[in-house]
Amino acid sequence: MGSVVHSLGYFLFEVSHLDAWDRFLTKVIGAQRGEALGEGLVPYRTDDRAARILLRQGPADDLVALGFEVPSEQALHEVTVHVREGGHSIDVGSADEAKARGVKGLVRTFEPGGVAVELFYGPALGTTPFRRDSVAAGFVTGEQGVGHLALRANSIAETRAYFEQVLSFGLSDHIRCTLPGDFKVDVTFLHVNPRHHTIALGSGLPKHLHHFMLQMASLDDVGAALDRAFANDVRVVQGLGRHPNDQMVTFYCVTPSGFECEVGWGGRTVDDSTWQPTTYNRVSDWGHQSPYRRPPKRRTEMGEQP
Ligand SMILES: [Fe+2]
Repeated sequence: MGSVVHSLGYFLFEVSHLDAWDRFLTKVIGAQRGEALGEGLVPYRTDDRAARILLRQGPADDLVALGFEVPSEQALHEVTVHVREGGHSIDVGSADEAKARGVKGLVRTFEPGGVAVELFYGPALGTTPFRRDSVAAGFVTGEQGVGHLALRANSIAETRAYFEQVLSFGLSDHIRCTLPGDFKVDVTFLHVNPRHHTIALGSGLPKHLHHFMLQMASLDDVGAALDRAFANDVRVVQGLGRHPNDQMVTFYCVTPSGFECEVGWGGRTVDDSTWQPTTYNRVSDWGHQSPYRRPPKRRTEMGEQP
């Protein structure tokens, strides 16, 4: 079966502190709070869609569901049959659930780690255009979807097989290396559209979600977001740097739920007709250092005076 999954349409997070998340998403990231669509979920926008990030209040502070868009009601039926034929249970979401997500209809199944995979069609647009108050050039979404995420896999092989066989993802590449402190990195990157990866799979993570990534169309907007993170006392765990595989320039900061948000610019895209998966031996070409790791010396060989 060819891929009927178009893109990652939305993230659904369960968070303890809705107010802190509102400040984080609107004042630091530059997302816009959307109009409430239904009971129990607070929508945020990164483009003209009514909801790209959905929050529900609760103790998990983790990823709850991923919304994958298919092009039509007919495609939703087809993918439902395909998921069942693969031996996975799948249930129809209620009308209230669809309304709260700003979609016409959805079905729900679960990836091997237990995160809900919500396949949907018919995303609603917001009643007003997305305001680019702080992200002047906007976020990169469209055919590439809302962004990407790094997901915990108990078995990378099993979870990779699920996304490949059930949702028609393809292999982008791997990063395998050992960082200082004998920290082993083994990450598998998968794509479902031209975005270099929509899902990265790693093991040994404390939560389902290591980070989610939002891509901006301008490097200046990423720099401005980094300034807003520092100005709002959001902890930046990795300053600007470039990844070798997707070639994005990004930084990472900590969300109010403890998992991280990566903000980036300049990702390459995948053309399946020519793409050759490879394995990289480094996480970054440059940068991605902790800005707090080395306190500046008062007197240096560069001649600074105390
Ligand atoms: Fe990432």
